[in-house]
Amino acid sequence: MIAVREWSQKDIGEIAVLETQCFSDPWKEKDFQSVYGLPIAHGVVVEEDGKVIGYAIATFLFEDGEILNVAVSPNYRRQGLAKRLLAWLEERAKSLNAERLFLEVRVSNDSAKSLYAGYGFEQISVRKKYYENGEDALVMQKNL
Ligand SMILES: CC(C)(COP(=O)(O)OP(=O)(O)OC[C@H]1O[C@@H](n2cnc3c(N)ncnc32)[C@H](O)[C@@H]1OP(=O)(O)O)[C@@H](O)C(=O)NCCC(=O)NCCS
Repeated sequence: MIAVREWSQKDIGEIAVLETQCFSDPWKEKDFQSVYGLPIAHGVVVEEDGKVIGYAIATFLFEDGEILNVAVSPNYRRQGLAKRLLAWLEERAKSLNAERLFLEVRVSNDSAKSLYAGYGFEQISVRKKYYENGEDALVMQKNL
């Protein structure tokens, strides 16, 4: 059974493993632990029969929310799970009276750009050479 729920600290080990399957420059377990400790951080996981198969993390500060990462296990893609993770974060954002969400995405990440555009995000700027390999980041925003 697939379920979407708020993250807990005991998910972090599984999240860090999934992260290595989803990103070329993965966060380490200690990075997730640091973010988990921040009062402004909120996270959501999607699990199948208790196994974490996707996650998304954001910080919310006053009217602004920033989505830090969204990932779904390669075996579970194109089933609408990332959209469910974004919807959970958006609900949380609204409950905290956030007015807009931001995120950065690699210019080469067509699947993520398509996910965000389909979810109502619009490109507002470009951060040149934002990533370690020199790639630019698109900054995208959605008003809530
Ligand atoms: C990007 C990612 C999170 C999408 O997860 P997902 O669960 O497959 O996404 P969904 O099934 O919810 O897709 C929602 C929409 O996004 C778009 N999309 C998702 N994957 C796509 C792909 N490979 N190609 C084109 N469009 C894609 C589609 O519009 C899709 O809607 P549709 O299936 O009805 O056409 C996933 O591919 C992933 O984990 N990638 C690696 C990590 C990453 O790049 N994260 C984003 C960092 S900014």
